[in-house]
Amino acid sequence: MRRKFVAGNWKMNTSFQSAQSLAREVASAVAASNPAVDVAVCPPFPFLWPVQQVLVGSPVALGGQNAYHEKSGAFTGETSLDMLIDVGCQWVILGHSERRQFFGETDASINRKIAASVERGLGVIFCIGEVLEDRQAGRTETVLETQLAGGLAGFTATQLQKMVIAYEPVWAIGTGVTASPEQAESAHAFIRNWIAMHIDASLATALRIQYGGSVKPENAKEILSQPNVDGALVGGASLKSDQFLGIISAAAELARV
Ligand code: PGA
Repeated sequence: MRRKFVAGNWKMNTSFQSAQSLAREVASAVAASNPAVDVAVCPPFPFLWPVQQVLVGSPVALGGQNAYHEKSGAFTGETSLDMLIDVGCQWVILGHSERRQFFGETDASINRKIAASVERGLGVIFCIGEVLEDRQAGRTETVLETQLAGGLAGFTATQLQKMVIAYEPVWAIGTGVTASPEQAESAHAFIRNWIAMHIDASLATALRIQYGGSVKPENAKEILSQPNVDGALVGGASLKSDQFLGIISAAAELARV
């Protein structure tokens, strides 16, 4: 059975102090309840290190929200994967729709970032998802297929062993509108089947596919109980420890049944 994975994407939120206290609350509750669920938090770059210090010895992992594929050099404003690893990251979110939408990321540039992460052994949370217009026009699967084929071009199953895919319908991100459990399940099943057909069947079976888009404690159980939904990438609700912990509890309850 695939172990559920709940990750918090803090986006461009928190301060030095609030990042540390949020991480402390999450870490102590997770340590106390010891859920059969993997948990990670992804703070903004300046707070990775202070949050890492809070997480020392805790089961909560640290992740970056982005990275650049080059090792080092004259790339003003960028952060390398080695830097993320150096401050204790085990994960990096790549291809988030906000990166695609506001910062011009393409399937090709995301592919280079995944390649560099794979080379360094950092776990990737690879985000894909359609915009509302695509869904309404019945193009959801075509969009997912293009993003999968572009982002994952050239990789073997062995290289992608640590990868997690986050299916995040763009129309559900930060909007309060969640995909219905049926819509999520159908997209997740499509993604798993695509991986089986185009990369490897056993990779597809083991692959964890998170759902992201307005996940809250109130809707978490219903979405997470879908057979192909293996966790959640949580934005807004990951900024409040009680809400994030509520989602983790929902995942943990399902892991017990
Ligand atoms: P949301 O964001 O939970 O605030 O909708 C999810 C995400 O963008 O990862």
